[in-house]
Amino acid sequence: MKILVTGGAGFIGSNFIRYMLREHPEDQVINMDALTYAGNLENLADVEHDPRYTFVKVDICHRPFVFEMVKMVDAIVHIAAETHVDRSILDASSFVRTNVAGTQTLLDAAVAAGGKRFHHVSTDEVFGALGPYDPPFNEQTPYAPRNPYSATKAASDHLVRSYFHTHKLPVTLSNCSNNYGPYMFPEKLIPLSISHLFEGQKIPVYGDGGQVRDWIFVEDHCRAIDTVLRHGRMGETYLFGGEAETTNLELIRRLLAILGKKESSIEFVKDRPGHDRRYAMDFSKAQQELGWKPLVSLDEGLRRTTDWYAAHQDWVARCKSGTYQAYYEQNYAPKIGALLEEKKV
Ligand code: NAD
Ligand code: TYD
Repeated sequence: MKILVTGGAGFIGSNFIRYMLREHPEDQVINMDALTYAGNLENLADVEHDPRYTFVKVDICHRPFVFEMVKMVDAIVHIAAETHVDRSILDASSFVRTNVAGTQTLLDAAVAAGGKRFHHVSTDEVFGALGPYDPPFNEQTPYAPRNPYSATKAASDHLVRSYFHTHKLPVTLSNCSNNYGPYMFPEKLIPLSISHLFEGQKIPVYGDGGQVRDWIFVEDHCRAIDTVLRHGRMGETYLFGGEAETTNLELIRRLLAILGKKESSIEFVKDRPGHDRRYAMDFSKAQQELGWKPLVSLDEGLRRTTDWYAAHQDWVARCKSGTYQAYYEQNYAPKIGALLEEKKV
């Protein structure tokens, strides 16, 4: 298969591309990413010379480019999005543009190209918040997004399903719980906490820290996406979770224990507005139909993650200083010049 992955320079996208190149030597991957602040090509430096991998700097809202790119591939795995809830609270404009209009552009391109296979990557946040004793979300749970990020992801999910019914586009969807692991941008809770601890800073815990998330190691999610892409039934949605419901405070205490730090490293700060109390996932449909279950426990995943961040403090430093954004100009732009010269353009 030739697969177009959108948002491949981000956290999940870069892990997914590395996973696909490793697990499917016969496949080719085109990474289409606009390189927003969350896109970091350093994340894929180890595969950038692989002949099966190509990067194109394209915004998913740019119709002419997107239509041309989609024609060239067999399948689209749509991962690109604006993803940080706190940013969506400050300004939702880019979330509406990328998550809603960008998804529509890709869907239109997939239809125009004759009905390309389309997998849409989404989140548990579209279902809203659970109480402490509610059963976990499942594929029948009504949508009830409560922040601008989750509202735009919910809109994109509805659009994808509408193209299945209206245009008979061969789509699948996956909604996954909170991911963690290598290459996660240090604005999200786990990498932010680890990097703050390395730097001797306190971890800002929103509210009372009693919010519950179901943490999944990113590689388990990559395997989930790949499984649905190959074996999912058209028009269907599959939920994925890590079987690791944990309060934010418990999670941070585990990180403190792994890194040998004290409870005094925690600082309680003002809560996030509209902060969802609990997410939890029932992934039994994926387990029964696809034979998928998470393989990495929270303890193992957190150890692998802290080890990775300990070994990549220079990566974190470049994320924080913004110098990672020069990677494209330094490593890709010169090659474009050489290519144009070679082709006498
Ligand atoms: P991320 O913020 O790390 O990466 C997003 C990527 O999309 C970046 O490379 C960015 O440059 C790119 N992008 C943004 N706008 C674009 C545009 N207009 N055109 C092209 N590229 C654009 O995100 P992530 O955490 O890796 O999440 C990826 C996907 O997985 C999202 O769809 C998200 O909703 C979903 N998801 C994430 C989680 C999680 O815990 N991180 C959980 C469930 C689902
Ligand atoms: P985050 O990583 O932003 O993911 P999401 O909002 O998509 O679940 O946050 C995870 C949880 O951690 C969420 O309940 C908010 C909380 N949080 C903090 O307590 N402090 C922080 O500095 C951040 C970034 C998040």
